Amino acid sequence: MQTGPVLGIESSCDDTAVAVLDADGRVLAEQVLSQEREHAPFGGVVPEIAARAHLAYLPDLARRVMERAGVAFAALGGVAASAGPGLIGGLIVGSGVAKGIALAHRLPYVAVNHLEAHALTARLPGLVPGGAPFPYLLLLISGGHCQCVAVHGVGRYRRLGGTVDDAAGEAFDKVAKLLGLPWPGGPVLERLAASGDPRRYDFPRPMLGRPGCDFSFSGLKTAVAREVARHPAGPLDGQVAADIAASFQRAVAEVLADRAGHAMDMLGMEADLLVVAGGVAANATIRAALNHAAAQRGYRLAAAPPRLCTDNAVMVAWAGIERLRLGLTDALDFAPRPRWPLDAPDMRPEKRARA
Ligand code: KG4
Ligand code: ZN
Repeated sequence: MQTGPVLGIESSCDDTAVAVLDADGRVLAEQVLSQEREHAPFGGVVPEIAARAHLAYLPDLARRVMERAGVAFAALGGVAASAGPGLIGGLIVGSGVAKGIALAHRLPYVAVNHLEAHALTARLPGLVPGGAPFPYLLLLISGGHCQCVAVHGVGRYRRLGGTVDDAAGEAFDKVAKLLGLPWPGGPVLERLAASGDPRRYDFPRPMLGRPGCDFSFSGLKTAVAREVARHPAGPLDGQVAADIAASFQRAVAEVLADRAGHAMDMLGMEADLLVVAGGVAANATIRAALNHAAAQRGYRLAAAPPRLCTDNAVMVAWAGIERLRLGLTDALDFAPRPRWPLDAPDMRPEKRARA
């Protein structure tokens, strides 16, 4: 079992992030450098630009966060970095820096599955009143992921359902673009929706009521595009845009609550906690709908504060701590992976190396 603090590195998409947590999971220092400015002119994340930005920011960021934590590299108990899934350029940069530090100071290295980091965030000490013991249900809703997962333990995940087309955050971003809003669209769309009428447009609720807990958002997005096209070219009337935003957001919230409800029914009495993670979990309307669905089934809803819902390195360091506590480490030749599902066989503790 590791004793020293753990350094976490996140670079799987467009956030360069570093965190240092003590062995109990208390945050000693952390920082997220968003690359929003670099990608905004392109209306989305450009992988090559992301990789170069990680390379430019990460080494110095790691040094500064370690300094602020007051921890010497040699005093670390381990180094953890997101090794997938995600954009391969950024993953190579983050993993390379982590392995370099581990090699230079003879530290245990953990190749963290980014989805596992989201999944285990709820177990950070003090985050969920009463803690988040296994098993629990995870609803992961971000720009790249949309899935319901039964979390039975570290490395033990059962995927109950996922999106057949777009992720929820992707749908927010695409609809925001249709409304002429800047990228990333989710937060801006939520602010616009606050002054809109969610009942004005009766957009479709894809998958609502269907068995299982798969998701689909492309039909909803197309319906919004069709509505936008009915209006004259040029900027939409402000109230129309707000009403479309509110009606779209309502539809997504209802679908997510319905799908998560089915997932809770699939898990039944096995669990009593629904954890929502990913950038979209910051949305208040969606949280309220999920809270209602959870309460109806005797489940508690837990959501991390927004800065821990979106990509960050605290969750990566924490996943590293959870693995190190089980004696799980990775070899320095572990190759980062653009695709790495949570239920991949080598996620399971018995399939990975032990320290
Ligand atoms: O988890 P995240 O930071 O990055 C990954 O995709 O991994 O999630 C970003 C996504 C974006 O699609 C963004 O538009 C969406 O989360 N998002 C929101 C809100 N805040 C962020 N969507 C709806 N409402 C929000 N308040
Ligand atoms: Zn993420």
